[in-house]
Amino acid sequence: MSASTPGFVPLEFQRLSSDEMLARAERFDAQIQRRRTVRHFTDEPVPMEVLDACIRSAGSAPSGAHKQPWTFVIVTDPEVKSKIREAAEEEERENYSGRMNPEWIGALEPLGTDDEKPFLEIAPALIVVMRQAWGLGENGRRRQHYYTQESVGIASGFLLTALHLAGLATLTHTPSPMGFLTRILGRPQNEKPFLLIPVGYATEDCAVPDLARKPLDEIRVRV
Ligand SMILES: Cc1cc2nc3c(=O)[nH]c(=O)nc-3n(C[C@H](O)[C@H](O)[C@H](O)COP(=O)(O)O)c2cc1C
Repeated sequence: MSASTPGFVPLEFQRLSSDEMLARAERFDAQIQRRRTVRHFTDEPVPMEVLDACIRSAGSAPSGAHKQPWTFVIVTDPEVKSKIREAAEEEERENYSGRMNPEWIGALEPLGTDDEKPFLEIAPALIVVMRQAWGLGENGRRRQHYYTQESVGIASGFLLTALHLAGLATLTHTPSPMGFLTRILGRPQNEKPFLLIPVGYATEDCAVPDLARKPLDEIRVRV
C-alpha cells in the first residue's frame, strides 16, 4: 500500500528523539497518576464544549473493522438524572442486599460505597457510554459489529483520560444491570449501556480511598 493506492492517504507520523519520547511519556504518566475516581461532586455546571471535545477524543479510538460501535449520551436534564438515580438505586439495593456475593461486598468495603447514589443527581453531567452490539443499516437492517467490548472499552479509556486532562473529575459507575438506561434515554435496542460516568468538579473536602497501585515490576513482564 502506498499513498497513491486508492483509499489510502499519507500518514503524518512524527518521529521523536528518545529523550523527547521519555520526557513526554513521563509527563503524561505524572498527569494520569493523579486521576482518581470521585464520588463527591459539586453541582457546578461544566462547559459543554469541553465535554464535546473529550467525546471527540474518545471517538478517535481504534475499533474492530473501524465500526466505531459507540454512542455517548450527555445527560444534564435534572428530571432525567433523577430517573436514572431512582432506577440505579433500585438495582443497587438488590446488589448490596444479596445479588453480590460476600467476597464482592468485601472487595467494595475499602471504597466506602453503598446503595445510595446521590452523585447521579448532583453531578452536573452524566455521560452514558453505549455499546452498539450491532449497527443499524437502511430500514433498520442489522449490520455486524466486531469486538465491541474491546472497542468501547478502549474508547471509554480515552474518554476518562481526556476528561481528566481537561481538569474534570469522573466516576466510572456500573449500577448493574444497566438496561434501564436504554429505556430512560430512549435509545435503540442495538445500544447496550456500557458505563455511566458522572462528570464534574470534586467537592472541596472530597476524600478518596487510600489505594496503592501495583508497581511496574508487578504488572510488566519482559519476554
Ligand atoms: C468497569 C468499572 C466499573 C466500576 N464500577 C464502579 C461502581 O459501580 N461504583 C463505584 O463507586 N466505582 C466503580 N468503579 C471505580 C473503581 O472502584 C475504581 O476505579 C477503583 O477503586 C480504583 O480507584 P481509582 O479509580 O481512584 O484509581 C468502577 C471501575 C471500573 C473500571
